[in-house]
Amino acid sequence: MGTLANKRVVLGVTGGIAAYKSADLLRRLQTAGAEVRVVMTAAATEFVTPLTFQALSGHPVHLDLLDPAAEAAMGHIALARWADVILVAPASADFIARLAQGEGGDLLTTLCLASIGPVAVAPAMNQAMWAKPATSANVRTLGERGIRVFGPAAGYQACGDTGAGRMEEPEVLTLGVAELFATGALEGRKVVITAGPTREAIDPVRYLSNHSSGKMGYALAEAAREAGADTVLISGPVALPVPARVRCVKVTSAAEMLAASLAEVADADLFIAAAAVADYRPRTVASQKIKKSGDTLSLELEPNPDIVATVAALAERPFVVGFAAETENLLDNARSKLLLKGLDLVIANDVSDTEIGFGSDDNQVLLISAFETLRPPRMNKAPLARLLIDHIATLMRTGGTANPAPEREVLV
Ligand code: C5P
Repeated sequence: MGTLANKRVVLGVTGGIAAYKSADLLRRLQTAGAEVRVVMTAAATEFVTPLTFQALSGHPVHLDLLDPAAEAAMGHIALARWADVILVAPASADFIARLAQGEGGDLLTTLCLASIGPVAVAPAMNQAMWAKPATSANVRTLGERGIRVFGPAAGYQACGDTGAGRMEEPEVLTLGVAELFATGALEGRKVVITAGPTREAIDPVRYLSNHSSGKMGYALAEAAREAGADTVLISGPVALPVPARVRCVKVTSAAEMLAASLAEVADADLFIAAAAVADYRPRTVASQKIKKSGDTLSLELEPNPDIVATVAALAERPFVVGFAAETENLLDNARSKLLLKGLDLVIANDVSDTEIGFGSDDNQVLLISAFETLRPPRMNKAPLARLLIDHIATLMRTGGTANPAPEREVLV
């Protein structure tokens, strides 16, 4: 089963008596580890007040598409990007019809249109409305477009009827949303991922290092585990929690990272080098703290081993993915890295842009293989990690090429 730890859920509430159950659903999503923001349609506010959801979620409820205050805080596009998943529960017959039509007349339909992640709906309506061919056709359309439809359940209805149309119970919906993240794309595979910076000792108290936060590598480890992989994270010193059910080998220097990587890749299917390995290390490490003097101090540095190139050169090697963080000539530099290091895929990003890359939550990358160069949209590191893992799993299955998914711009 998937987990909702660290997942961001937009809970959409539309007008129906089942909206009272959405408060319980919100609580259950939170208990499963999710951070939840609530969006209500105007009709929903006739059933439950926004204050209920504000109090439970700890955040103002989003109500209007064109609300200047909301746009200044978190606009509708930012909210769509923020979400790992949008769950609309209850989804009324009217909302389902508008979603099937691709309408964007209110905040919730616009969010679903703008979302690049999964969208799920939990229909809730009178049994006769559910049974109508128009509703069936709309629900079929949603399913064909990849929108998950949970339920509805059958039983007693608030209007006194009995039949299909009750909103699926909150605990079932919570499990269903968690399952959306368990793709199974790497089921039975072993994945080894390096992450974070390395520290190269100068003396017992000082070191050379860099600003890598480790966020991308950790997000990849979480996504790989969600995809069913036995996942090992070889991590330099970072301030991030280890994702659940990921084995973490903590290392400090590049030499330690190399040794740990070689020990783990022997039976691995995929190696992803997301670490920002220090290129050089002091040739000698002073045994005592170097004393300050008025003179200049010279450090003699020697190159560190290239971990990803070493793994890629093994006779028995896994599928090997490297990163290229560049400040200029992104495409050329990344392509030469692909060749020089013998990689199967390079994930390239422009670190001169301060809104993406090192330490930031968003990332915009190019995916470069010998066969194609793709540009997924700019997105938060967690959904990007899932997209990358899915893409890599496809490459591993197809021997290096993937049919570009529609959301990816094909460059070459
Ligand atoms: O050469 P450059 O450092 O730009 O290459 C970046 C890629 O190579 C990243 O995937 C990084 O994790 C990997 N790398 C490595 N060992 C090194 C240097 C970089 O595995 N010593």
